[in-house]
Amino acid sequence: MNRRRPRARTGPLLHLRRRPPAWPEQPATWRAAAPGLIAGALKHALARPSGNWYVLGPSRDLVPGRALGRTIGGREVVVWRTAHGRPAAGPGSCPHLGAPLKDGAVHRGALICRWHGLALDGTPCAGWSPYPVHDDGVLLWVRLDDLGREEPTDRPVPTARPPLARALSAVHTAVGVCEPEDIVANRLDPWHGAWFHPHSFVDLAVVGAPGRGTATYDDGFTVDVSFKVAGRLVVPVRAVFTTPGPRTVVMRITRGEGRGSVVETHATPLAPGAAGRPRTMVTEAVLAVSDRPGFAVTRRAAPVLRRLMRAAAGRLWRDDLAYAERRWELRGSGRFPG
Ligand code: FES
Ligand SMILES: [Fe+2]
Repeated sequence: MNRRRPRARTGPLLHLRRRPPAWPEQPATWRAAAPGLIAGALKHALARPSGNWYVLGPSRDLVPGRALGRTIGGREVVVWRTAHGRPAAGPGSCPHLGAPLKDGAVHRGALICRWHGLALDGTPCAGWSPYPVHDDGVLLWVRLDDLGREEPTDRPVPTARPPLARALSAVHTAVGVCEPEDIVANRLDPWHGAWFHPHSFVDLAVVGAPGRGTATYDDGFTVDVSFKVAGRLVVPVRAVFTTPGPRTVVMRITRGEGRGSVVETHATPLAPGAAGRPRTMVTEAVLAVSDRPGFAVTRRAAPVLRRLMRAAAGRLWRDDLAYAERRWELRGSGRFPG
C-alpha cells in the first residue's frame, strides 16, 4: 500500500502542563470503566482467531548457534536458527530418550542432542516433527495446532506496524501467575492508566469505547493521554487499543508525537507453576517512529521516544501483572466482581 507520509513535525516535542491537579483530585473513572463493557471487549477479543500461533519471545533472543527452550501451554518447544539464519522449531524432548533439546548444541545449523548425538536439521527425523515457526523481525512465533485447536493459518494474525527500518524497537518480557485473558483484560481497561500509573500517565480521557456512540468492538478504545517524561513535561497523544487476536492487544499512537508508533502486548501461556497455578508470559513489543525531520538519520528524539514508548513496559507491567495475578485469583475463587 502506498501511504502518503505525514507532514514532518516541527512543533515542541515536550509540553509543559500548566495546572497539574493533584492525584486524588483527578476525575474518577470507575463509573465509565463499566465491568460489563470491559468483559464484553474481552469476550470479543477471546473469540478472535489466532491460527494457533503463540509468541515465543523477542527475535533477538534467538542468536545463531544457540538453542532456546520454552514451554508453551505445557508443550516443550525448542527453537534454533538453521544455517540460513531461519528459525526451526519443534518438540523440545529428544525423540530418542527424551533428553532436553534446548541444551543441545547447534552445529552448522543443525541441533545436536548432547546425549547421543541425534542431529536435527529442522525437517522430520526419527519421529521428531517440526512446528511451523515465524520470525517477523521483532517477535518469534510458533504454531501449536494441538494447543490452539483452531483453524491453522500460514502466518500469525498480522498487525499494521511502522516500517522496521524507520522504527526504534524494544521488546520487554515478564511472567505472571495468571492466564492470558487476565493480561488482555487489564489492557482493555484504559481507564486505570492515570490512576494506577500516575508516574507514567496523566490527563487521561477515554474518548471512544465499544458500544459508546457508533464505536464497535473492532474500533477498540480511543484514549487521549499525556505520557509523563520528567516533572511537568509531558507528551500528549491519542492512542487506540484494539485486539487483533485472542492473546494480543495493540496500542497505536494516532495523533501527537510518535504518530504511527505501535505497542503490541502478547500473552503466551507457559507451563503451570507451583500447585498447578497458570503462568503467562507478557511480551511487549514497542515500535516507535517519529515524523520529525531527520529522525531516521539522527534519531535525535530516540531517548525521549524510547522512554515514552517504554512507559508501556517495565514498571507498568510490574504493576499490571500484580493486578492480573489478583484478577486470576479472584476469578478462581468466584470473588471477581461482576
Ligand atoms: S536422548 Fe537424544 S540422542 Fe539420545
Ligand atoms: Fe496498566
